[in-house]
Amino acid sequence: MILTEHRVENYRNIEQAEFRPGPGLTVLCGRNGQGKTNLLESVWLLSGAKSFRGSRDPQLVRRGEPYAVISSVAKREDGEAEQYRIIIGGEGCEQAGVRPGRSAQLDGVDLGRATNLAGHFYAVVFSPAHLELVRGGPEGRRRFVDAALMQLYPGYIPIYRRYIRALAQKNALLRDARRFEGAEQLLETFDQTLAAAGGEMIRRRGAYFAGLFELAAETYDNLAAGSERCSFTYLPSAEDGEALLDRIRAARPADLRAGFCTVGPHREDFKIEINGADARSFGSQGQQRSAALSLKLAEARQIARIAGSEPVMLLDDVLSELDERRRDFLLGRIQGRQVILTSCEAAALHDTPGGIWEMEDGRLRQVQ
Ligand SMILES: Nc1ncnc2c1ncn2[C@@H]1O[C@H](COP(=O)(O)OP(=O)(O)OP(=O)(O)O)[C@@H](O)[C@H]1O
Ligand SMILES: [Mg+2]
Repeated sequence: MILTEHRVENYRNIEQAEFRPGPGLTVLCGRNGQGKTNLLESVWLLSGAKSFRGSRDPQLVRRGEPYAVISSVAKREDGEAEQYRIIIGGEGCEQAGVRPGRSAQLDGVDLGRATNLAGHFYAVVFSPAHLELVRGGPEGRRRFVDAALMQLYPGYIPIYRRYIRALAQKNALLRDARRFEGAEQLLETFDQTLAAAGGEMIRRRGAYFAGLFELAAETYDNLAAGSERCSFTYLPSAEDGEALLDRIRAARPADLRAGFCTVGPHREDFKIEINGADARSFGSQGQQRSAALSLKLAEARQIARIAGSEPVMLLDDVLSELDERRRDFLLGRIQGRQVILTSCEAAALHDTPGGIWEMEDGRLRQVQ
């Protein structure tokens, strides 16, 4: 996947900007608060996902404007060009004839919701918020694997939904099981569903992690030039569906006491260790960043492997906190794939082979 043209109008602080990234590295530089991340975020939206900054759609539209437009062209692996157009409705968009939310067109054909772009434009984003993968609690790590599986295997979505629905029903029942006759029987039914769907989730997470963790450990090894080792280990709630059912049944008294379901894929995690010590509690900032980055680079390689499409890498502020050797490795590593990178330190990047663009108060100009 190569993004060849990208144009935005009324997107956050950007009234209008257009650029043509090359097939390798493109740097967006500029001082704080000028709109670098905004522009990167607008590229990310082409993947069909929502903002990686957790913003709601109307917040993406330039204040005072009814809607924003993103129009882009990308070249697919088979050499064909695809045209994307996303329209984001802001406040008062309906008076301007635009629907609220994000809608999309592909090659001029209406797709409805922009989420339908998933599976066309592949991208991987790394932003400072992704440090939560290493520093934060297990929930973010589960979201990471579930999002990856949903993007790569649409068949994971109904399994995941079946599990989450049964879990919500079971939790509702557990909250007032004492007052409910026949609760035990009903709990058993939910447990069967949880074990069937949950067993499948464990199998798919396990298979995905096996490839991902190997690539991530290898990437970390290269980043750190072998000076330290980082390992990633999946901590499944059970070996398979059958074992999960046993564990869920055994946990029933505890569940009844707690008032919620205490065992299963919704409580799983994976652990990240640097030289054998938990990266969350003991890793330095640069080490934590390296571990999160390794996971993200591994994710990109998994997409290339499984979907057969090299994703565009979007790296927001990735260079801060990395020492020179790690920077050099990273910038060398990304040859052969398209990378768009934001940085406040343009000087450090002047001898890179890619194009450099400067963002100032929402205006973009090419400097190299
Ligand atoms: N909907 C909006 N309308 C107008 N301006 C907006 C909107 N949303 C965000 N902004 C402005 O965009 C600017 C932030 O841009 P951005 O986050 O891209 O900065 P940046 O160049 O990445 O800075 P840093 O180097 O600090 O990360 C802020 O000034 C913010 O007020
Ligand atoms: Mg930024």
